[in-house]
Amino acid sequence: MQQFNITILPQNITVSAEAGQSVLDAVRMAGLSLFAPCGGKGTCGKCAISANSHVTLACQTIVSSDLTVTLPQNSPHILTSNSLAEIEPDMQDAYVLAFDIGTTTVVCYLLSGKTGEVLSQASAVNPQTSYGADLLSRIQYALQDESNALEACIRRTISDLTIETAEKAGVNAADITRASIVGNTAMHHLFLGIDPKPLVVPPYMPKVSCAMELPAKDFLPISSNGIVRILPNIAGFVGADTVGCLLATRFDQNENIALMLDIGTNGEMVMGNAKRYLACSTAAGPAFEGANISCGMGGMTGAVDHVYLDDGRLVYHVIGNCTPAGLCGSGLLDLIAVLLEMGHIDNSGRLLTGTEYRLGDTDIVLTQRDVREVQLAKAAIRAGIELMAKQLGIEISAVQIVYLAGAFGNYLNPSAACRIGLLPPQLLKKIRLIGNAAGEGAKRSVLRADEFAYSQRLAARAEFLELASLPQFQDCFVDAMGFGEDTNA
Ligand code: FES
Repeated sequence: MQQFNITILPQNITVSAEAGQSVLDAVRMAGLSLFAPCGGKGTCGKCAISANSHVTLACQTIVSSDLTVTLPQNSPHILTSNSLAEIEPDMQDAYVLAFDIGTTTVVCYLLSGKTGEVLSQASAVNPQTSYGADLLSRIQYALQDESNALEACIRRTISDLTIETAEKAGVNAADITRASIVGNTAMHHLFLGIDPKPLVVPPYMPKVSCAMELPAKDFLPISSNGIVRILPNIAGFVGADTVGCLLATRFDQNENIALMLDIGTNGEMVMGNAKRYLACSTAAGPAFEGANISCGMGGMTGAVDHVYLDDGRLVYHVIGNCTPAGLCGSGLLDLIAVLLEMGHIDNSGRLLTGTEYRLGDTDIVLTQRDVREVQLAKAAIRAGIELMAKQLGIEISAVQIVYLAGAFGNYLNPSAACRIGLLPPQLLKKIRLIGNAAGEGAKRSVLRADEFAYSQRLAARAEFLELASLPQFQDCFVDAMGFGEDTNA
């Protein structure tokens, strides 16, 4: 088979691709990240690159000659945790690492083992996004792929972030002696090389749930005697990242009822108090991360992240204050809330401005299909909240605090989330944004052995609720689709 050189900028990496392969294949071979939510099927239109000065879709560009392509530049923002209590480290390790492997973004913190101080941090787009935005696409890919490409690419990224944080802090990577990792169950299995098949067949439980301490040399370029702590999973789609959030919020110590939400490609939720707490996940879909939305994109430079009314005039904010390139999740929610206020969307979700609404004089449009995608995503989450409250035998108003974790949770406007019915309006004043609580849990686990042990107790006490198996789920989901202000209230 004829081979061609594909040079990828700005990284300036050249790989050899066979005639007939796509540019997306070449990008994957180079171990680089390109947002490809549909996994290369040519249906999402998000994998745009520049090839010979033309903008084209990487997955639809077939290699037939040497080629130079330029990838879009997107660096994810690192989210810190917001005002969660500090802890004292209990060990003598000089340097330790904490990783949060998100479906979209991977974050690494290098900490002093003596003081707990963050010495440096770095993040990268999860390279598995080149294989699909959602977990199911990636698991399906992994099940057919004998080369273990998903495992290899995430391990490479974790290694690169280790080196990057060490260099930033002026630390020798070989002096790092301990690390901890959180991530959802699919990320956990794909990183560790565990068969992900049990996650997609009933009863959808992890192949491995327990917390583990493993030799670091198999995963990380740190001390050859180093140890990696892997936090436990709760269920197939409620993973170690949720446990990290529970750890950071001391969830099992709440006397009052609390609700914790981490909304991303999946929505993971925990509700309860010291006596009992339930955990569930909803297939919220990746709409809130920009996939399946015609002008959707991640929360990166160029994304419209906030839309609001100022004296009746629609105003928007763009990350990086540059030309707007698309809508990220928080901007999408805001825009729908504003259009509801303006009467351009009715309570059933019908767009009354025709088939689309254009944002000012930009190229960004919101289509009727986009509104429906948001309705499906928000109904899944809202139904989960309602059903957890029912299972606990409480009214929604009994919830005293709502922890919103994760990047989307941190940037979304709580009023807009309540206006569109993603969250029950009666909880608006109880919302607390806690930032990257999963990463905070990873930090605590690596700094203290008793925190790592605590994570195991937190996971073991969580009662997993399989929403789809509840007879009321379908009705509750349909009820939550509308935009009426008192939907399900
Ligand atoms: S259109 Fe190329 S990845 Fe979706």
